[in-house]
Amino acid sequence: MMRSHYCGQVTEKLENKNVTISGWVHRRRDHGGVIFIDLRDKEGLVQVVVNPDNAEKFAKAEKVRSEFVLTVQGTVLGRTAETINPKMNTGKIEIVADNIEILSTSAPIPFQLDDKTISEEVRLTYRFLDLRREEMQQVLRTRYQITRTMRRFLDDKGFMDIETPILTKSTPEGARDYLVPSRTHQNKFFALPQSPQLFKQLLMMSGFDRYYQITRCFRDEDLRADRQPEFTQLDIETSFMGEEEVMQIMEELVKTIFSEVGSINFEYDFPRITYADSIRDYGIDRPDLRIDMKLVDVADLLQDIDFKVFAGPAKDPQGRVAALRVPEGGKMTRKEIDDYTNFVSIYGAKGLAYIKVNKLADGLAGLQSPIVKFFPEQALEVMARVGAEDGDLVFFGADKAKIVNEALGALRCKIGEDLAMLEKDWAPVWVVDFPMFELDEQTARLAAIHHPFTQPKATTEEILNHKAPEQMLSKAYDLVINGLEVGGGSVRIHDTDMQAAVLKLLGISDKEANDKFGFLLNALKYGCPPHAGMAFGLDRLVMIIANRDSIRDVIAFPKTQSAACMLTEAPGLVDNEQLSELDLRFRKPIKE
Ligand code: AMO
Ligand code: AMP
Repeated sequence: MMRSHYCGQVTEKLENKNVTISGWVHRRRDHGGVIFIDLRDKEGLVQVVVNPDNAEKFAKAEKVRSEFVLTVQGTVLGRTAETINPKMNTGKIEIVADNIEILSTSAPIPFQLDDKTISEEVRLTYRFLDLRREEMQQVLRTRYQITRTMRRFLDDKGFMDIETPILTKSTPEGARDYLVPSRTHQNKFFALPQSPQLFKQLLMMSGFDRYYQITRCFRDEDLRADRQPEFTQLDIETSFMGEEEVMQIMEELVKTIFSEVGSINFEYDFPRITYADSIRDYGIDRPDLRIDMKLVDVADLLQDIDFKVFAGPAKDPQGRVAALRVPEGGKMTRKEIDDYTNFVSIYGAKGLAYIKVNKLADGLAGLQSPIVKFFPEQALEVMARVGAEDGDLVFFGADKAKIVNEALGALRCKIGEDLAMLEKDWAPVWVVDFPMFELDEQTARLAAIHHPFTQPKATTEEILNHKAPEQMLSKAYDLVINGLEVGGGSVRIHDTDMQAAVLKLLGISDKEANDKFGFLLNALKYGCPPHAGMAFGLDRLVMIIANRDSIRDVIAFPKTQSAACMLTEAPGLVDNEQLSELDLRFRKPIKE
């Protein structure tokens, strides 16, 4: 027998009992004549004591090094009062070894598991060692608890888990596809799914009524701290439900996950904000509502001033002039303000004007700023508009609305974090009333903000005759928690004519539509129930609940920022033979 108990579960309840444990050597200390070994398994550590009473046993213990794998038989004894370790579950006892067996040795390890200074590159190269760390074990446990709760919740509500293809055709989520060449159909390619969107809609048309799947999605896009090229969605679709009903079940699901896995109970309905209000107040469609600061429009007050930096955008219909009041921000140094000015330049902002509010009672003399001189008559009114108080600092952004929104939106979050302004731990919010389309400025074409199967808040007639389609709203909703988009979904189009109208507005020809998703358009003709759904980013949910800043920390074998796997060194070269089977050739010769 290799195990009667897990290491981490041998407590004082087992005192004087014989146990057999197996695991990895976490640490070995030689105290001249007595050897201490901390043995580790998935449940934790326990201290093993090896006395020199038996030469053979002691010789084995002397050979033992970090990360050797052992089985130890021994007796559980209470520790003396001064050697008790109250921080450990097993800290009141130790196991006095009767017998030791070395099951596997270990080469010297490239880093100590509890060393927190190891670079991510090394951690990912030796991921099998990195995952031995308690921290990583805990994160992956949390991830599993979340998927278990998801499955249990959805099973109870009558949702059925159905798998959909991975080798498929391009799906319309708007990122670049990962392609797989077909050997049997020369010159043709599969695309890996960006999501199961079209298949789940087909399943509704096939009468399954309620579907879910915890599934991998593939998107070749620029990676960030919250993006991976392959990531996992909890994907959901239901028939005969509208926006409200779907959002209600999804909210219940999220609350159940937080409560069961994180012991966090939301005893309120998640607030809702429209897309337009979110952009106006926070500059972004995934607002972090833990921070109590808003962007405030001041363009109407500054249209006629001589300061062109402000007056220009204030008069431009595409422009925006907004203020961000930082409570007690007056303490900021020149250097800090310069740093924030550099920060907003990442988003294309050409500057970052500011006013320090020293003493409002002194009128203009109480404002300290390089720009107040340009609008002395309006400055106090601007201060009143933003609700400024003595000791505050007010930042200004003036440019095309898109630049101001992105710059001040990001600045708001950065300052919120820098000045520890997070007012609560959790801020879930539904973002609703998304526009159906956005105008691509380069091509002057409309693009679907969600995807082209989302139902607009309009009739087919209205869609076809709309004067300003970019103002049309859609039945789409996103769930945002702490500024992270954790999920999104919509009510789908279930009517052929409406689908044709939307594709027409998008400038997608019949031929293109048929080539790309003819199967869906065809299926729509044969009795399609009204349906709606949503997909959650599982990795992002785990990040939030496990309190991790990087998505790579919540995935067992993640890819780097450049979409490579350090462990397997994928992607890799392939044989010429494999290439010729696929009838593929490189355009440039490859260097060996
Ligand atoms: P969407 O594209 O919004 O919707 O994706 C749903 C959720 O998936 C997560 N997500 C990602 N997570 C990690 N890395 C990525 N590269 C990545 N991209 C997206 C986000 C996002 O909210 N088919 C629709 C859903 C529907 O309409 O039902 C879809 O895929 O958390
Ligand atoms: P300037 O007259 O260009 O030196 O700018 C005066 C102040 O306005 C400086 O504090 C700049 O940082 C700021 N500023 C310049 N352009 C912008 C802009 N587009 N938005 C906000 N502030 C700006």
